[in-house]
Amino acid sequence: MGEAIYRTYRVVARRSEGSVGATLILDGPLQAEPGQFVMVWLPGIEERPLAVMDDDPLALTVRVVGPFTRALAACAPGDRLWVRGPYGRGFPVRGEQALLVGGGSGVASLTLLAKRLMQENGHVRVALGARSSDQLMLPWRFRELGCELLLATDDGSEGLRGTVLDAAEPSLSAGWADVVCACGPEVMLLALARRMEGSDVPLYLSLERSMKCGLGICGNCYCGNRLVCLDGPVFPVQEVLCLLEPPP
Ligand SMILES: Cc1cc2nc3c(=O)[nH]c(=O)nc-3n(C[C@H](O)[C@H](O)[C@H](O)COP(=O)(O)OP(=O)(O)OC[C@H]3O[C@@H](n4cnc5c(N)ncnc54)[C@H](O)[C@@H]3O)c2cc1C
Ligand code: FES
Repeated sequence: MGEAIYRTYRVVARRSEGSVGATLILDGPLQAEPGQFVMVWLPGIEERPLAVMDDDPLALTVRVVGPFTRALAACAPGDRLWVRGPYGRGFPVRGEQALLVGGGSGVASLTLLAKRLMQENGHVRVALGARSSDQLMLPWRFRELGCELLLATDDGSEGLRGTVLDAAEPSLSAGWADVVCACGPEVMLLALARRMEGSDVPLYLSLERSMKCGLGICGNCYCGNRLVCLDGPVFPVQEVLCLLEPPP
């Protein structure tokens, strides 16, 4: 179980993420594995889980969906955040040719993995999908890291017109990847898992279930026989496929 000790950070820079949110660069590092998350507390508002987008300095990318994410995305340089963690089981850093598939706020869980894989001289392709070009999250960060980007938008305003799975399809059908890692809406994860059924390429999925403690105490993230905060949020597909399937 991780420690529940808060560290205080100040925002040193804020970068807009199109129309959907913002990235906050903080004033110190946090050692973390790719795919791990932190609990971020804004006193008087809430405490919520966020992926470690980058570790040195710590950076967080926020997609606005409700009160907490709205307040966090509105933070400006000089504002303070209380952070505990990192928590959970992250992605394994393996594979010479890795395909990362991201949608929604899940994209933030993949950037540190891309960084580590590139540091290991891996070849990294990143498939990102969104409704339109202004909703794509973090393409600039993957470009900065030297990853190959495969973009898809519903309206065709950037990349191909279609879903993130359409963007990933040529790499999947060519058998390009020796590992696939994904984070995003569960319908996307399920579609990817079904597409890769029967493949011997390892697939790791990160689940964004609702969390309260992040420590394995409250049971809020209980999913099947797993606690997502403790046993995940990253799981090999075999461990979670039945949890993603809709009830009959
Ligand atoms: C391990 C983990 C890592 C995460 N990493 C990030 C991250 O890096 N950046 C980020 O922006 N968010 C991330 N999230 C999601 C984030 O925690 C939620 O979006 C946040 O808790 C919503 O709080 P809120 O008060 O803004 O909205 P709420 O009022 O709690 O929710 C508003 C609406 O959004 C829906 N919602 C809640 N969570 C999500 C979600 N994950 N995706 C889509 N809709 C959702 C709710 O069902 C509700 O309808 C992560 C979640 C987990 C579990
Ligand atoms: S969030 Fe409390 S047990 Fe997982």
